[in-house]
Amino acid sequence: MASPDTLATFFAQCRRRVDQTLSSIFPRSSDVSPRLLEAMRYSTFNGGKRVRPTLAYASCHALGGDIQQADPAACALELIHAYSLVHDDLPAMDNDDLRRGKPTCHKAYDEATAILVGDALQSLAFAVLGNSKLCPQSTLTDQVRLQLVNTLSQATGLTGMAGGQAMDLYATGGMLHQQQLELMHAHKTGALIQASVRMGALCALPEHDWEGASLQALDRYAKAIGLAFQVQDDILDVTSNTETLGKQQGADCALGKSTYVLLMGLEPAKDYTQELCRTAIGALDDLDHKANALRQIADYIVHRNY
Ligand code: IPE
Ligand code: IPE
Ligand code: MG
Ligand code: MG
Ligand code: MG
Repeated sequence: MASPDTLATFFAQCRRRVDQTLSSIFPRSSDVSPRLLEAMRYSTFNGGKRVRPTLAYASCHALGGDIQQADPAACALELIHAYSLVHDDLPAMDNDDLRRGKPTCHKAYDEATAILVGDALQSLAFAVLGNSKLCPQSTLTDQVRLQLVNTLSQATGLTGMAGGQAMDLYATGGMLHQQQLELMHAHKTGALIQASVRMGALCALPEHDWEGASLQALDRYAKAIGLAFQVQDDILDVTSNTETLGKQQGADCALGKSTYVLLMGLEPAKDYTQELCRTAIGALDDLDHKANALRQIADYIVHRNY
């Protein structure tokens, strides 16, 4: 396996790559609402870790693909994620004031603008998949683009992130059983992470391999890290601090959120992330050294401190 430095370098390259591509697809100006465009930029170019684009690139690379083919997928994933954070922070949801170390979108602008920012970022995400002129360096076929749209829409709507966010809201103040909590986490966070890995793979594989063993292995990997990502997010809400996180520490507890830490206790929750990490890495046993970045990302997800 490559050294940790290699993952840091890979992460930095992916971050740079997706940020440059995102810049190139954002409208230069808007005659209709410069304020909405400014708020969209504010909520996108604000220092996120870019885990989902990095996963898409790493997955494409693992299967021998050229990572520039995954540029539209990487952008779409980060745009959906940015939208989800803007809406997640609204007073009607988690009511948070701080995100990525800055005032949340509805604090910097206003609630109506924040709702529209989410809507418009989501539209831009599907536009970058559907419109080949937005990312001309990627020469994906229409068939692949359609499959990317299907994968992302499944992961984003009722069957994925939005469904999980609804479960989260309706469970606030109560306590879910482990099975329900796992279902909630797998939807609100896991679904987009699974889509990230799958979309990267779709950009590398010929169509006749879309149901093949490599994609199934990547799906098993992604399912485990998707859940681990949210369990670690629950842990960090307890163990980290506001400055490091760039968001309010202790917010879950203050709101009465159902979390793994509350359900299991801190140490068992940490053990669970380690178990999920081993499951994820084990799923990649039949993939060669090109999957090393994915292996390292699994480790990073459960050891990250923000
Ligand atoms: C935070 O996601 C929200 C969750 C799904 C847990 P990240 O931890 O990836 O946030 P950024 O993008 O780095 O800010
Ligand atoms: C957010 O989960 C999941 C989505 C945005 C879809 P959290 O509510 O735990 O995320 P943070 O802790 O605010 O980043
Ligand atoms: Mg939330
Ligand atoms: Mg939140
Ligand atoms: Mg959280």
